Amino acid sequence: MELLDALRGTGAVRDFTAESVDRATLWRILDVARFAPNGGNRQAWHVTVVEDPAQRAALRDLYVEPWSEYFAQVMAGVTPWSPLADRVAEEGIIDAARASGQGMETVRARVESTFAAPVQLVVHGDLHRLVATDRDLGHYTMVAGASIYPFVWNLLLAAREEGLGGVLTTMHARVEAQVNELVGAPEGLSLACVVLLGHPVHQPTRLRRESVESFTTVDRFDGPAFTA
Ligand SMILES: Cc1cc2nc3c(=O)[nH]c(=O)nc-3n(C[C@H](O)[C@H](O)[C@H](O)COP(=O)(O)O)c2cc1C
Repeated sequence: MELLDALRGTGAVRDFTAESVDRATLWRILDVARFAPNGGNRQAWHVTVVEDPAQRAALRDLYVEPWSEYFAQVMAGVTPWSPLADRVAEEGIIDAARASGQGMETVRARVESTFAAPVQLVVHGDLHRLVATDRDLGHYTMVAGASIYPFVWNLLLAAREEGLGGVLTTMHARVEAQVNELVGAPEGLSLACVVLLGHPVHQPTRLRRESVESFTTVDRFDGPAFTA
């Protein structure tokens, strides 16, 4: 498909048909994804293709609690797990939602549909090979993950070209130790995301995003909006 159409219109897919995806197709997708830019060309990604039914079920189940916590925070109008969030207020929101059980049906339905995806990929970054130029700044780091996520986005775009859809998910980071144990990831491997792929029931192409002017300024952060 046209590059600009793909870049502007590849929305998250969380509903999949029952059609399977063969290994050759997934291999081709990974073969394209590997050309993503990454710090120092260290290619510090590792993909675990989870095929075993018991492993897949465990991965799905591990998603439920973080997703319900995410949902509770969204419902409360806060940005879930923002690095600068008030942790006490955040816990209060999550505890209240847990106590009420509100929204759990919605949460479970979403988890079921998302994890019905025939392809489930656990993506790790190798901390021994990641170039993290902001490592010593003493605040939340941005740079390390930037060597992994372009690879993941390439993967999603390549999947689209194959007629597939999918979604990058990060809820499992909340239960990283269990995921690492599940797939036997060694020390020094950090969970980047779990990617679900399959044949979409519907591929969203009309995405809602803010305008260029809303996030681009000239000369200074508080400078005038950049316009054409
Ligand atoms: C870093 C990152 C983390 C995400 N985590 C999740 C997730 O855990 N679960 C999920 O269903 N979608 C996840 N998404 C998909 C976003 O929710 C989605 O891109 C966003 O809502 C915009 O929807 P659209 O791309 O379909 O327009 C994630 C996307 C990114 C880039």
